[in-house]
Amino acid sequence: MPITMRQVGPCFAAEVEGLDLRKPLTSEEVAAVHDGMDRHAVLVFHDQRITDEEQLAFTRSLGDIEHSIGTSLRPLTDARLPTTFADVSNLDKDHKVFARDDRPRLFGLGNRLWHSDSSFKVVPAKYSLLSARSIPSKGGNTEYADMRAGYDALDDETKAEVEGLVCEHSQIFSRSILGFTDFSDEERERFKPVRQCLVRTHPVTKRRSLYLSSHAGGIVGWPVPEARSFLRDLVEHATQRQFVYAHKWSVGDLVMWDNRQTMHRARPFPANEPRDMRRTTLMGDGPTAEQAAA
Ligand SMILES: [Fe+2]
Repeated sequence: MPITMRQVGPCFAAEVEGLDLRKPLTSEEVAAVHDGMDRHAVLVFHDQRITDEEQLAFTRSLGDIEHSIGTSLRPLTDARLPTTFADVSNLDKDHKVFARDDRPRLFGLGNRLWHSDSSFKVVPAKYSLLSARSIPSKGGNTEYADMRAGYDALDDETKAEVEGLVCEHSQIFSRSILGFTDFSDEERERFKPVRQCLVRTHPVTKRRSLYLSSHAGGIVGWPVPEARSFLRDLVEHATQRQFVYAHKWSVGDLVMWDNRQTMHRARPFPANEPRDMRRTTLMGDGPTAEQAAA
């Protein structure tokens, strides 16, 4: 069966048909998926009732996996899933919904702000693949913003201003927006800021995009309030409705997005209902900017 991709978003996302993610991909299928990602930046696969092993095999066929180690507040001993997954569910290792005041849960609510996965790492993520195993009765959409369209729509003066700027990203910045500021010394050290270019160029299509994220809390060489108000305006610009695709989940959906070309955010849902979403992540090719001297 040939692979088809049909655009569903206002300007980018596409639904893919003709692939069974339970089976190994041929090299032609791998190339078609990468080509679709280069073009659409968000691909939606429906009716994929995959196991963890099948999700890992599909992810590995596209590149190297990024492990989730030290990026959340939940100790590895309490993890429900191995480090090859980012567990973005609301479930503990006994598959029970987290208490409302659970500290790692509150930290994880940062996912409801616009962000790009792992922009707080020196080598940030390339693709994320999110598989819906169980979903709440309402809410819980994931929204995606096309950062290429956001860049293209900037006026010339702003395009000149963002050129060459380097931002500082940390989970401490994104969590502090929500009033989560109570970090230990060890956590502050672990989450210390990394540098990322504000404008990225896609290695294949050469399209430029704004590399924004709620983790960005400063611009190198700028006073903090000026940097944050500038970044806030850019996020507001880049997340206008005409640049956004909202995905309403069904069980069995797998959505894959390119973190280099998009931002995303999770939308609220009833806190007492299980939402089992499992993410695998592909590593990026390298740093986007030179890091500060240690
Ligand atoms: Fe995310």
